[in-house]
Amino acid sequence: MTGPTLADALTAAEGVEGWLSDDQAGRLWERAAALRPGDRIVEIGSYRGRSAIVLATAAPEGVEIVAIDPHAGNDRGPREIRGSGAAGEADHRAFVENLRRAGVSERVRHVRRPSQDALDAVEGDVALLYVDAAHRYGPARADLERWGARVAPAGTMLVHDAFSSVGVTLALARLLFRSPEWRYAGRSRSLAEYRREPLRGRERRRNLVRQLAQLPWFARNLGIKAALTMRLRRVARALGSSTWPY
Ligand SMILES: C[S@@+](CC[C@H](N)C(=O)[O-])C[C@H]1O[C@@H](n2cnc3c(N)ncnc32)[C@H](O)[C@@H]1O
Repeated sequence: MTGPTLADALTAAEGVEGWLSDDQAGRLWERAAALRPGDRIVEIGSYRGRSAIVLATAAPEGVEIVAIDPHAGNDRGPREIRGSGAAGEADHRAFVENLRRAGVSERVRHVRRPSQDALDAVEGDVALLYVDAAHRYGPARADLERWGARVAPAGTMLVHDAFSSVGVTLALARLLFRSPEWRYAGRSRSLAEYRREPLRGRERRRNLVRQLAQLPWFARNLGIKAALTMRLRRVARALGSSTWPY
């Protein structure tokens, strides 16, 4: 008997609002499916459950899955930094219902707190960390730094809105570009993957160059966002997309 496939995960997440494209879901799926019983996944920023459903469908039995999101209404998504408690409550209800509908409620432990107040809600290290919460520089940096430190050696950290959001990209530049312990392993659009492993000398410089090589794509995304904000749809299209890039 074969286990669930990526197609099953995409079907389970169909109709769930969010900013996770199918190719990004594929990367989440592959990393989660490769885990072993006893491993742990932590997701920071769950919104209405789209990525949590993919992770929970992919992860083998015995993998613990923790989803951290205060559902407070702020930092919800693109251009939604300040929100209302009512919006947060609506997100929470949708999250619970979407997980139930996808049949994964029992697999996911939701911690309804901001990430920086939830460090003590997870015991032990993390095999797969998915960071997709507040995209402003301060909180993004804190998540990468403090939750990143919880990732086990050879573990994986996936970061959404990398090389797309200014705050997230600056936090990556500050903490990971020249890091001696995080190898950049590629991206699916704005979903960047890092593996925790020691880097020295030439390998560390190569790792920096691989990340710097993403900056033209970052500039393109900023151009598209600026054009869309100014309602210059044709300019945005000429730059590569008439929708908000992620
Ligand atoms: C971009 S959405 C996450 C999307 C989700 N990963 C998906 O695939 O649909 C950002 C989420 O981060 C949450 N958030 C904001 N600040 C947070 C914090 N300090 N800690 C954890 N989550 C936070 C918001 O409530 C929101 O639901």
